[in-house]
Amino acid sequence: AAIKKIALMPGDGIGHEVMAAAEAVLLALHAIEPLPLEWETLAWPSTGWHRQHAEMMPADALEQVQRYDALLLGALGDPGPVSDPQRYRLPDSISLAPLLTFRKGLQLWACERPARLLPGAPQYLADPRAAEVDMLVIRENSEGEYVNQGGRLNRGTPQEVATQLEVFTRHGTERLIRHAFRRAQARLDARPQGSKAFFCAEKGTAGAQVCLITKRNAQPFWGDMYTEVFAEVASEFPEIGVHHELVDAACMKFVQSPWAFDVVVASNLHGDILTDLAAVLSGGLGLAPSCNINPDSRDMPALFEPTHGSAPDIAGQGKANPAAMLLTTAMMLDWVGCAQAAERLRMAVAKDLVTAAGAQRTCQEVTAGVIAGL
Ligand code: NAD
Ligand code: IPM
Ligand code: MN
Repeated sequence: AAIKKIALMPGDGIGHEVMAAAEAVLLALHAIEPLPLEWETLAWPSTGWHRQHAEMMPADALEQVQRYDALLLGALGDPGPVSDPQRYRLPDSISLAPLLTFRKGLQLWACERPARLLPGAPQYLADPRAAEVDMLVIRENSEGEYVNQGGRLNRGTPQEVATQLEVFTRHGTERLIRHAFRRAQARLDARPQGSKAFFCAEKGTAGAQVCLITKRNAQPFWGDMYTEVFAEVASEFPEIGVHHELVDAACMKFVQSPWAFDVVVASNLHGDILTDLAAVLSGGLGLAPSCNINPDSRDMPALFEPTHGSAPDIAGQGKANPAAMLLTTAMMLDWVGCAQAAERLRMAVAKDLVTAAGAQRTCQEVTAGVIAGL
């Protein structure tokens, strides 16, 4: 197979710690069975790079990363201590831009965030059925609430008005929702027949479900367009159950009965919020993987990064759980055609959770445990 090229971007804060874990695991996998991969580490995007160059990444970063097949990112965000009032001295537009620039500029319009509670992972909900949580949240990644248009009129005066535009296109909506149904169909096809039943008002129950999230009662323009497109695409997938929740009720039901969700499809901001919540349902941010992909095209590199951020409150203390990054690395291995190594890694992470039996461990201890289980 042709060698695939990967860029490792540790980023900021615990990004460096969890990236060290990912690299150690890649080397260990490579020693077991040579992987057709080459990787190199980049110093950007990062706040550290920003301090030297007054920008988070070089001006031609988007062109430079197109040399790679996949990008593996730790986390971004000023890593200074929480108590440091200077922590937020970078304007948000600078500290957040690179991530959003990559997602948008590389046309990585779908963000997939699986939330499955693995045995041995922290279970925060008391109901025993919470052990069955196994959902896939698909988040719109290129438009919506994140178009970053707007402004501040009369800045700093009592008359100030801030506007933040949201833009939703039918094209962006349709490709997202069709992708969600395809993933639901694939999940259904991979399950033993009749093993699961999800609520569907129209079909009674169904073996798989896509739940649409909107806030159409308060935001009817995009909410109604999403709802219409959802119904159109759903008609192409007769086996898949459909459901619609308003985002506030969805938050409530994620906590009350998370096992009732299968594939969830949401806008950029709603998906962001719901996936931190879904992370807690599957053991916490330390266990939540994520990828940014263009399901229709491999022309641009895909971007793999855990759901969590740079965690300034624990950075530099060896407390970060690398499991989210390792499960993210497994998603990347699948993407670049190393399915066997991906599965080996997922199994090792799962085995390590059971072996550790909830013990408090350092990032390096978890990494060593996973490597021992490969
Ligand atoms: P965060 O995800 O960094 O941290 C939230 C909480 O979860 C913290 O208490 C943290 O200690 C804990 N946590 C996160 N990852 C963990 C891990 N692997 N192991 C153990 N505990 C973990 O969110 P935040 O504090 O709101 O944001 C910090 C910075 O990260 C901000 O600058 C934010 O913009 C940025 N951020 C970046 C990304 C990204 O790069 N993909 C994602 C989210 C937030
Ligand atoms: C995430 C993060 C980002 C987002 C931030 C850092 C811009 O929270 O990847 O979930 O909102 O998408
Ligand atoms: Mn987030």
